[in-house]
Amino acid sequence: MPDITLTVNGAPRRAEAEDRTLLVEFLRRQLGLRGTHAGCDTAQCGACTVLLDGRAVKSCIVLAAAAEGAEVETVEGLSRDRAAPHPVLQAFEAFHRRPCGFCAPGMIMAAVDMIRRHGEALDTATVRHELEGNLCRCAGYHDIIRAILAAAPTRRPEGRRPRERNATDAADKLRPRPDHGRGPGAVRDG
Ligand code: FES
Ligand code: FES
Repeated sequence: MPDITLTVNGAPRRAEAEDRTLLVEFLRRQLGLRGTHAGCDTAQCGACTVLLDGRAVKSCIVLAAAAEGAEVETVEGLSRDRAAPHPVLQAFEAFHRRPCGFCAPGMIMAAVDMIRRHGEALDTATVRHELEGNLCRCAGYHDIIRAILAAAPTRRPEGRRPRERNATDAADKLRPRPDHGRGPGAVRDG
């Protein structure tokens, strides 16, 4: 079997894989990164979403061989710095407390991608549209949308310089308010 060499969560990785091995299988079996879930294996559910060279892809429809030399980010990479987990992870922890959590890794990686692409322009309609390829069987969409908006940069009045975002900023932003325990990223249900 040929070797596949790629960078995963910032570290060089190398392992054998058959030509037909899918990226999701390669990550889970060969590299032991089981945070990426395999749900449908037919590009329907989004549970297997990872970032491939910075863009969200469904790793159940990408051959591991096609990722040769690429940069892959999985959900494990967002908690590399245990003292300052990625703001999206913190937001999902705060808002997305559904029973199974099976969809969460894919939702989280899709969220990282959409926040990077849309930045301050990200709004509820855009999040809903972007999540079309990610399914939650526990119907936790409202909480997921709240989490993503809470983790996104906020629009600020023109001329005001945004503060640098860090874990403390994110934690402040997510601290529950007295009103129903919702953070400032909360959106209306509907
Ligand atoms: S497992 Fe890849 S989209 Fe469902
Ligand atoms: S929380 Fe169960 S599938 Fe989303």
